[in-house]
Amino acid sequence: MHRVIRRGSSGLAPAYSARHVYPLAAASQSDLDTWHSLEFGRFGSSLAVKDGRYVISKGTGGRSSVSGIVATVFGCTGFLGRYVVQQLAKMGSQVMVPFRGSEDDPRHLKLMGDLGQIVPMRFHPRDDDSIKAAIAKSNVVINLIGREYETRNFTFDDVHIGITEAISRLSKQHGGILRYIQASCLGASITSPSKYFRTKAIADEIALRHFPQQATVLRAGPIVGTEDRVLNVWAQQAKGLPFVPIFGDGKTRLQPTFVMDVAAAIIAAVKDDGSSMGRTYDLGGPDVYEVQELVDLVFETIREHPRVVKIPLAIPKMVSIPRDYIMKKLRIPPISRSFYSSDFLDTVEIDQIVADGALTFKDLGVIPRPLRGVVIEHLYSYRTGGPGVGSTVGEHMTGIRF
Ligand SMILES: NC(=O)c1ccc[n+]([C@@H]2O[C@H](COP(=O)([O-])OP(=O)(O)OC[C@H]3O[C@@H](n4cnc5c(N)ncnc54)[C@H](OP(=O)(O)O)[C@@H]3O)[C@@H](O)[C@H]2O)c1
Repeated sequence: MHRVIRRGSSGLAPAYSARHVYPLAAASQSDLDTWHSLEFGRFGSSLAVKDGRYVISKGTGGRSSVSGIVATVFGCTGFLGRYVVQQLAKMGSQVMVPFRGSEDDPRHLKLMGDLGQIVPMRFHPRDDDSIKAAIAKSNVVINLIGREYETRNFTFDDVHIGITEAISRLSKQHGGILRYIQASCLGASITSPSKYFRTKAIADEIALRHFPQQATVLRAGPIVGTEDRVLNVWAQQAKGLPFVPIFGDGKTRLQPTFVMDVAAAIIAAVKDDGSSMGRTYDLGGPDVYEVQELVDLVFETIREHPRVVKIPLAIPKMVSIPRDYIMKKLRIPPISRSFYSSDFLDTVEIDQIVADGALTFKDLGVIPRPLRGVVIEHLYSYRTGGPGVGSTVGEHMTGIRF
């Protein structure tokens, strides 16, 4: 006999909604405002605050202290998310980590804080109740959600504009959110020819519109670190292909930024005396590189002779039209969705550098690290023979092979 489960037929809220725990489904807007505001003790933050500061803090500032910060980090399961959660947790903050996929997605984050300090919560970006539940106890909201390609289910408008709109609107309704951080990127502009950059810029405006006093927008350059999708991609191509393709003339200027520095900037904006509130910062590393120079640096770091071919942009753009059509139709794409999609190709000729006169890392008290050094150490693992083999380009040939 088949057991039939009728979704929604019972009239119960979904299991991941906190509706059955907190009466979030208010009868009226004023009920909602009351429940989410600091006036209503149970659902608002009970932490005393003054002039945007968290005045209740205890301990020496380590993992077992109390920073006074209860933060919800949307996008915590991504590359930047793990560093942000780690930095928050190690100073004694409680961190809500909303995830949408498997329960394993936020599992690595649980170990970053004291027992009970990292709280995974299932959410769906289209379910307002699940977002409300994720922020109900928080006084800080950090939105790191973003995607470099569109899918069957989520366009750039949905991911960047729609989700930011929902999170910032509900955070505003909450009434007790003291700081709101929006992750954006250098190059974001509402006049950009790339839809990715346009929607990121609109998302920044939405965040600042909902939180003109509390929001801080942090526009990072291409982020580099162990799990990055910039240098790792070139290194993988260098290992797996006869040459690394560069689309266009390779002269696009990028200001790569170390992931730990971006996370430090986010923490600085959350912890400061309120001076970062309502402001936008451009977070670029200390050096500007052309794409060609970065690819050469990758080859140098993995100790191989550069093998680069420049391909006029028109060729991959032509190929990307049928590719995009087919990939969006497939439920499970056979290759990475970002692999030479038109979304990616639209961005390759756009400079991602700090704007003149912009507020930067320095204004947040963070000194960004140069690329050469610890920032690109993760590329050593691509060296033939092992990370410690050889000392100059080409010397890998004499290394020990496993
Ligand atoms: N990486 C860079 O080079 C770079 C440079 C500048 C700015 N940024 C910005 O920094 C932020 C974080 O970047 P990242 O590199 O950490 O990104 P990432 O690794 O791709 O992670 C993105 C996060 O957003 C979530 N997300 C994406 N689409 C979603 C959707 N439709 N619904 C719910 N959650 C969704 C992902 O959840 P799932 O795990 O469930 O997919 C993941 O947690 C983004 O806003 C990005 O635009 C990144």
